[in-house]
Amino acid sequence: MGNAGDRVVMVTGGAGYIGAHAVLRLLRDGWEVVVVDRMIPGRANPAGLEAIRRAEPAASARLHVVNVDVADGPAVRRVFEEHRCASVLHFAGLAYVAESVGKPVEYYVENVSKGVRFIETAVACGVKRLVVSSSCTVYGEPDAASLPVREGDQMHPTHPYGTSKWMLERIVRHTVDANPSMGACCLRYFNVAGCDRSGVLGEVHEPETHVIPIILRCLAGRWPGTNNVFFIFGDDFSTHDGTAVRDYVHVDDVIDAHVRALGVIRPGLTLAYNLGLGKGVSIRELIGACERVTGKRLDVRVGARRPGDAPMLWADASLARAELGWTPAVGTVEEMVESAWRWMSGQPK
Ligand SMILES: NC(=O)c1ccc[n+]([C@@H]2O[C@H](COP(=O)([O-])OP(=O)(O)OC[C@H]3O[C@@H](n4cnc5c(N)ncnc54)[C@H](O)[C@@H]3O)[C@@H](O)[C@H]2O)c1
Repeated sequence: MGNAGDRVVMVTGGAGYIGAHAVLRLLRDGWEVVVVDRMIPGRANPAGLEAIRRAEPAASARLHVVNVDVADGPAVRRVFEEHRCASVLHFAGLAYVAESVGKPVEYYVENVSKGVRFIETAVACGVKRLVVSSSCTVYGEPDAASLPVREGDQMHPTHPYGTSKWMLERIVRHTVDANPSMGACCLRYFNVAGCDRSGVLGEVHEPETHVIPIILRCLAGRWPGTNNVFFIFGDDFSTHDGTAVRDYVHVDDVIDAHVRALGVIRPGLTLAYNLGLGKGVSIRELIGACERVTGKRLDVRVGARRPGDAPMLWADASLARAELGWTPAVGTVEEMVESAWRWMSGQPK
């Protein structure tokens, strides 16, 4: 590195849960950060960016926030030209599996069509390094014998959200093949969990759909919709306790992999890595961890399965460990829950 723009990174979706964690880390690492976010109500959390400014006042001048849609080519081009970003972390998109089943067209428009428009602008503006948020859902519903999943395994996504990520990965790969002056990395996150351990950022969605914040809100008496009762979506999966098994990975570790990816991306190459701990944790085990951390007992009922939910999924992340030098610092769901609970406990009701 050393050219103009090499320490300037565009973060699309930087006002969202994972994107804001990236912004915090990049500012602390000395980067100039340009957030491009269309501030979708209930998904974006502009207060998180304000919390970053308060926590890192000296870095605040290096944070630029632009309220724009990634598909708005002329506006995004102006941002690229003004800030000369050579690197992009592309988090922007819609991210709810169950919602995607009911709104497939919306998901393909938001994640694929708009992703293509954004990539077109990024290529035209000479971006060198592109890191894209992908997802474990690209693998679909592998049978128990195929676990843990590896990057080279077959990908059979079973719902619009997973398919949109699979398509985006393909589009990125073909774009790099045709434009070898740039390189890319698709990071397939498993279940991203927790809040930054310095206590600046939390996870804020309205409505919330992620399991750990929902459990914690039930435990805190802040989930009035069900009277603070937590509903398990199905306990008849073919897993050891009947509930769905997932691989949880701390958000700070996910961001660490992005920073490492920026360092290893090479022109003409598209890399892809799983980001998970390689441990399956069931919903019942997760509930146990939340009860231990909070010292409270959860009121639990069992509801119907949600469409599109795989019974179990966990990662073989040895490639990210070997090639990115990625070593997750948070090794248990208890620690992930602790970070989320600490942040939530500090929030006004
Ligand atoms: N949270 C997880 O466990 C998880 C797992 C796998 C993959 N991912 C992926 O990671 C990325 C970030 O997830 P998240 O949980 O932070 O989501 P989020 O909903 O918290 O944040 C998404 C952000 O993107 C913005 N955005 C959406 N569409 C946009 C557009 N067209 N133009 C500009 N901004 C736009 C929203 O306003 C929001 O601020 C997503 O691509 C998601 O699919 C998340």
